[in-house]
Amino acid sequence: MKFFLDTAHVASIKELISTGLINGVTTNPTHLSKEKMAPREVVETICVFLPEGDISVEVTETEPDAVYKQACAIAQIAPNVIVKVPCYKTYYAVIKQLVDEDIPVNVTLVFSVLQGLMMCKLGVRYISPFVGRWNDIDMDGMEIVHELRALIDQYNFDTEILVASVRSVRQVHEAAMAGADVTTMPVDILQKMMDHPLTDQGMELFAQDWKRLHISHFP
Ligand code: E4P
Repeated sequence: MKFFLDTAHVASIKELISTGLINGVTTNPTHLSKEKMAPREVVETICVFLPEGDISVEVTETEPDAVYKQACAIAQIAPNVIVKVPCYKTYYAVIKQLVDEDIPVNVTLVFSVLQGLMMCKLGVRYISPFVGRWNDIDMDGMEIVHELRALIDQYNFDTEILVASVRSVRQVHEAAMAGADVTTMPVDILQKMMDHPLTDQGMELFAQDWKRLHISHFP
């Protein structure tokens, strides 16, 4: 399963890329609104940091024609940009046109299996089911991921499932077990995943035992 970072915070992205775990980044208008640098500059910086990664950048226009033009312009920012387009009814034709023009698309704000199925039929690169937002209203967001996995495998679609709107370490675990192709996670979630109290305790114990030998150089 690929790990994407769900943020536009350049310093955190840079730091976490050094772990070797990061395969991409998902930005959105909310993430970009929190940064001091201009959005284009943020995106360009991230694309340079992670040239082999997929960097999602979302459209902000609302009228279909404008969404299409903006999507084409976003795709020109860097070769590793994936254009993020909401799964909105009036954008279906736009999404189809982008796919026909070989522009990689990540369809965001996917909340149902049928939305996912329709996007697979259009041939998009990624669909992003938002599990956390379903869970926020007491629904099981991960159920959709399981069903999308079964559906994509059954019909041999090329589209990848990108689990989004992740709120906990547990959801990353569940996404992996559900067969998600990608999970995009907030910085703090990935940091929590790398922490384990038993590893910390175990290291402390080894260090204490080693100290008893009073060896200054090893090996
Ligand atoms: C996905 O690409 C989105 O950026 C994201 O996961 C949004 O999730 P939220 O529900 O935390 O805003």
